[in-house]
Amino acid sequence: MNLTCKILQAHLMSGELRPGCEIGIRIDQTLTQDATGTMAYLQFEAMGLPRVRTKLSVSYVDHNMLQTGFENADDHRYLQSVGQKYGIVFSRPGNGICHQVHRERFAVPAQTLLGSDSHTPTCGGLGMLAIGAGGLDVAVAMAGEPYFIPMPKVLGVRLTGTLQPWCSGKDVILEMLRRLTVKGGTGRIVEYTGPGVASLSASHRFTITNMGAELGATTSVFPSDEVTRRFLAAQGREADWVPLAADPDATYDETVEIDLDTLEPLTACPSSPDNVVGVRAVAGTPVVQVCIGSCTNSSYEDLATAALLLRGRRVHPNVSMTVTPGSKQVFEMIVRDGYFADLIAAGCRILESACGPCIGMGQAPPTGGVSVRSFNRNFKGRSGTADDLVYLASPEVCVACALTGEITDPRTLGIDPIAVATPGQFLINDNMLVFPPADGKDIEVLRGPNIKPVPLGEPPAATLEAPVLLKLGDNISTDHIMPAGAKVLPLRSNIPAIAEFVFMRVDPTFPERARAAGPSLVVGGSNYGQGSSREHAALAPMYLGVRAVIVKSFARIHRANLINFGILPLTFADEADHDGVDQGDQLRLEGIAEGLTTGHFTVANLTKGTNFRADAQLTEREREVILAGGLLNKIKSEQTETAA
Ligand code: F3S
Repeated sequence: MNLTCKILQAHLMSGELRPGCEIGIRIDQTLTQDATGTMAYLQFEAMGLPRVRTKLSVSYVDHNMLQTGFENADDHRYLQSVGQKYGIVFSRPGNGICHQVHRERFAVPAQTLLGSDSHTPTCGGLGMLAIGAGGLDVAVAMAGEPYFIPMPKVLGVRLTGTLQPWCSGKDVILEMLRRLTVKGGTGRIVEYTGPGVASLSASHRFTITNMGAELGATTSVFPSDEVTRRFLAAQGREADWVPLAADPDATYDETVEIDLDTLEPLTACPSSPDNVVGVRAVAGTPVVQVCIGSCTNSSYEDLATAALLLRGRRVHPNVSMTVTPGSKQVFEMIVRDGYFADLIAAGCRILESACGPCIGMGQAPPTGGVSVRSFNRNFKGRSGTADDLVYLASPEVCVACALTGEITDPRTLGIDPIAVATPGQFLINDNMLVFPPADGKDIEVLRGPNIKPVPLGEPPAATLEAPVLLKLGDNISTDHIMPAGAKVLPLRSNIPAIAEFVFMRVDPTFPERARAAGPSLVVGGSNYGQGSSREHAALAPMYLGVRAVIVKSFARIHRANLINFGILPLTFADEADHDGVDQGDQLRLEGIAEGLTTGHFTVANLTKGTNFRADAQLTEREREVILAGGLLNKIKSEQTETAA
């Protein structure tokens, strides 16, 4: 058995480990962050349980840190009090980015983690099966219910050789993206094997599993070996370690091989994480901003390496350079060990431990200026500047660019490479974690005016006749559908308000047209809904009346979110039919109930007088969710039946 199947087998509650077969798995841990968490906990509250039923649930605050109004502060207070009541650990604002803190303090090899953030797979770096999902799926897991997914294929990535100087985990995952693209991991779990694994530090592994999300993979996983044991011991958690590896004769559905000996520093050019080239191919491009941080590359080792490279040197006068410690632990340690002083002396701006510029919360680059970031995504406009030019690269490449003011292969800098090893002991201070009391029944949940009830979907009508309100092309991300940023994020717990921003970057008239239209449809290309796990990209369109989305193909989490909120996820049976539909066309789907059973719908284009076929291959469970008008409706009605 491969490692993936071993963990899945130990958590299997229904189904078979056969690619495509729907499996239900037991979830040991959950995590949420504030941008998705408020809604997840409102949904959990709506289920009426007294306490979470997971081994561990943690609620992080890392996305909405700006407090320019009462909204974010309301959300943070709600999250802390709801955690106290229902048994959820609360990680206070300033304690760090969820994936950095979770790996440090909570992740456990061989367990399962479901998180309402698309980079939850980060914890796969230490042999955990960690999956990103919508907030409602996480709420359901907290209620002790299984998490359902079609059994992915397992893609074995055999690593040989050893990382060369100036190369890091970032270059391994950028190489994967170069070869497989942002769609290449869809429907797959990426499992790293081979002799090269042992040469990768825990920090490199976390960077690789983190950006497995950009491949579209369900998750990525490394063995739990001696490197893992040492990492957990350094975090004072050696007791959490268990050895875990694929059997020597394990088989994989597909395999890829990467020779670490031949890897060179890489960068993802604007504006997709798979637009990867060798750094030397774009060397010389002027750079105006460099940002080191995000859940991908803001570990102690990342920042200490950056600081040592910058020691005694100066950030180029044309470059604004920011550095974000990924957690309070990282922050405290770089201060203690003197690296903080190196960074400041060189001219870096230090940001608080949070997502910050990665989610467009500040540090938008100037118009037309190139920004080089150690982050994981560079979708157009995500930085907050509409025509941004964001390159993704390792912290080492970021520093090289900051020193010279242009994209620079660090091998040409003329300085010695530096690689900081994992510390033998991390600084452990959990005083920004608030643990819940044993009994929360007397705790009052604090709700400010920004906390609004969750809107519920409606069961589908027998026939859907509706206009195509928007027609889109390939690779539409959830950032396009429901943007983030300082204006939008504070409205995460207020759907009527946040709905005003749906498709804002694509067509600002969408919300107004949707309200006028009543039921409506959206048409898209392939990989629709890639990127962030945000369920608001389904919930807010549902609130505006979108009843079905017809595309060439979906990204996994977004498809699940659409179903969770009762929106019909349809794919063109013949992709060429995408060309035959235009914005404004009136479409009619008849026999919805029958179509849900057969998986096939005949769609009449009333405007053009044509017909085409669209499919929805739904499992029995997914069909029931759609027929109930969403998962929350289904769970509520099941509870009513149980009570009766
Ligand atoms: Fe935050 Fe960016 Fe990661 S928004 S969770 S640092 S991808």
